[in-house]
Amino acid sequence: MSKKLYLITYGCQMNEYDSSKMADVLAASHGYERTQNPDEADLLLLNTCSVREKAQEKVFSELGRWKEWKSADPDRIIGVGGCVASQEGQAIIERAPYVDLVFGPQTLHRLPELLTSTRQTRKHAVDISFPEIEKFDRLPEPRAEGCTAFVSIMEGCSKYCTFCVVPYTRGEEVSRPLDDVLTEVAQLAAQGVREITLLGQNVNAYRGRMGETAERCDLALLITYIARIPGIDRIRYTTSHPAEFTDALIDAFADEPKLASYLHLPVQAGSDRILGMMKRGYTRAQYLDKIRRIRAARPDLSLSTDFIIGFPTESEDDFIQTMDLIAEAGIDGAYSFIYSPRPGTPASNLRDGVPLEEKQRRLSILQDRIRAQDEAFKRGMLGTRQRVLVERAARKGEGFIAGRTSTNRMVNFEGPQSLIGRFVDVTVTEATPNALRGRLLDAGAVA
Ligand code: SAM
Ligand code: F3S
Repeated sequence: MSKKLYLITYGCQMNEYDSSKMADVLAASHGYERTQNPDEADLLLLNTCSVREKAQEKVFSELGRWKEWKSADPDRIIGVGGCVASQEGQAIIERAPYVDLVFGPQTLHRLPELLTSTRQTRKHAVDISFPEIEKFDRLPEPRAEGCTAFVSIMEGCSKYCTFCVVPYTRGEEVSRPLDDVLTEVAQLAAQGVREITLLGQNVNAYRGRMGETAERCDLALLITYIARIPGIDRIRYTTSHPAEFTDALIDAFADEPKLASYLHLPVQAGSDRILGMMKRGYTRAQYLDKIRRIRAARPDLSLSTDFIIGFPTESEDDFIQTMDLIAEAGIDGAYSFIYSPRPGTPASNLRDGVPLEEKQRRLSILQDRIRAQDEAFKRGMLGTRQRVLVERAARKGEGFIAGRTSTNRMVNFEGPQSLIGRFVDVTVTEATPNALRGRLLDAGAVA
């Protein structure tokens, strides 16, 4: 009987990607199959996130539950990976001695060796080093799960925003060589993948080695190469940083039709005073100018962002500037959270006089506005023709399928499941706060 892996992921898409790679290496090396039932698992892995305190706290409460599974069967192995592992290392084992393995985002490819070592020696195994890009050289061929896939193109971050732990937990920016990225995309395309999302903390810092030359490939050039891979018809990337959003990337929105009409460009705040304290490296005016030029290149763009609310000393005026920016930039989606002080980051030493209730009030005002902008964006799609990539059967209603627009909105419509994995055109007929409905057009235009 094959061994079973139970794997939980917290945090960002990078972590989702890393988790799928953990499952792949363990399947290749030890024949592990994933299970959703922890009671039948031999190996329990938790891929963690430390970007905010809440995410970090969840780790130890989850591990508390896992302790019982281990007492039920002491041969079970428990491993902790991701950013909390990277930050805490050995301290995790001191706090939760029933944990056997601790590994960081850059050492997940060493899981098979760590696992064998802990099984043989019955001792804890900890490896949270940053062995540069070795991780990607040691991963098995990707396994596609459906018609969309993530491909990590770079690791880490060298921006050191004053509030953020990522440069400390994932290390500095390192890009994968161009050929490796293209090979992975081609392997996915051969398995039926039609849409690729390029992943990294700052994908536009990508500078991939080109063969053995000293030349480097940037994100804009990478997009043109990927667009030429047969089968790939839509390309997205996330997350990019406003300070490094080059003219070439703006031009890509005009010149490359396979690039989706969607951009996630975190702004964090709308006031120059707060942006300066965060060390973001751009002003409000510079952000707005870039958005104006991107929209000129791609008028139907959907723009989403990240906001941190209640950064130390944030005043009502700073907050109003953030609210104004939502309207000025035409932001129609956002991840927004209250600032969470992270140990070891410069901002954690700042005095913060803003009461929590005030931060919560601001956050809920902002989230209401974003919701309204999202609804307005969806209403604006009513009656339009949209090309969607059909991803799956719709959750509600037999005979319905769900496809994603270039602007990253799901549309439910009547159609056969044989269209899953294909591009079709639909007319948007209904926009409710939660969903879009549509009607399939020209079944002959399937691609
Ligand atoms: N590279 C991206 C950028 O250009 O900002 C962001 C990557 S970061 C891991 C993801 C998001 O987490 C950030 O955009 C920020 O909004 C949020 N975040 C990071 N540190 C935070 C903190 N200490 N408190 C609250 N939110 C935080
Ligand atoms: Fe974090 Fe800023 Fe990098 S938010 S991931 S340090 S761009």
